[in-house]
Amino acid sequence: MERRAAQRRAPRPLLLMLFAVLACAPPLARALPSKVSRGVAVPFVFDPHAVCSPPCQHGGLCIRNATCFCARGYEGELCQHATCYPKCKNGGKCLRPGKCRCQPGYGGRYCHKVSCEGGCQNGGECISANGMVKCICASGWTDSRCQEAICPQGCRNGGACVAPGICSCAAGWVGGACHLALCRLPCHHGGKCIAPDVCRCRSPYSGLQCTKRIKE
Ligand SMILES: *[C@@H]1O[C@H](CO)[C@@H](O)[C@H](O)[C@H]1NC(C)=O
Repeated sequence: MERRAAQRRAPRPLLLMLFAVLACAPPLARALPSKVSRGVAVPFVFDPHAVCSPPCQHGGLCIRNATCFCARGYEGELCQHATCYPKCKNGGKCLRPGKCRCQPGYGGRYCHKVSCEGGCQNGGECISANGMVKCICASGWTDSRCQEAICPQGCRNGGACVAPGICSCAAGWVGGACHLALCRLPCHHGGKCIAPDVCRCRSPYSGLQCTKRIKE
């Protein structure tokens, strides 16, 4: 108990601050109606031996037994709650004075703005409707953040849709839908390139390039 009291007397700069607060109080009191002024002019009785256990938090001063005088930006019995003005909106929590932590879907300094976490890409717009927040995508784009392009023609044979209507094809394939195979050596005698470097030959030809004639 003795050790605790010693610790409590330690923060002398804080005591000076407190006296400064007291010194400033009377002019403030004079500006207020007389009924109120009595309470304001002597805002608290300060006991230098006061004990607050659990201790006052966030720089709060123990001014009487079990009574904390909170630093600016904090409130609560132990000064445990930060205060945010304006208050955090949409279910946001006040983390530190003036700093809100927002619920998912909200952003901005006071959680007053609708936010699509990660943003909406490719010209998508973040909107709030019936309590749901979502991206409305520009034409040609889809998925939760509008990050997926739409290729109505499809991208075949391992191709990827990289922009609206544009496929990036795997090696050996070309065409708008990656539907055409590439044969680096041509297929002869009416043979058809059906896969990368694969010819399908017409009878009676065979071979890689359909150059061999099968004898009957
Ligand atoms: C404050 O608490 C301490 C320890 O509990 C006690 O000794 C002291 O008398 C109290 N002071 C007042 C003003 O009640």
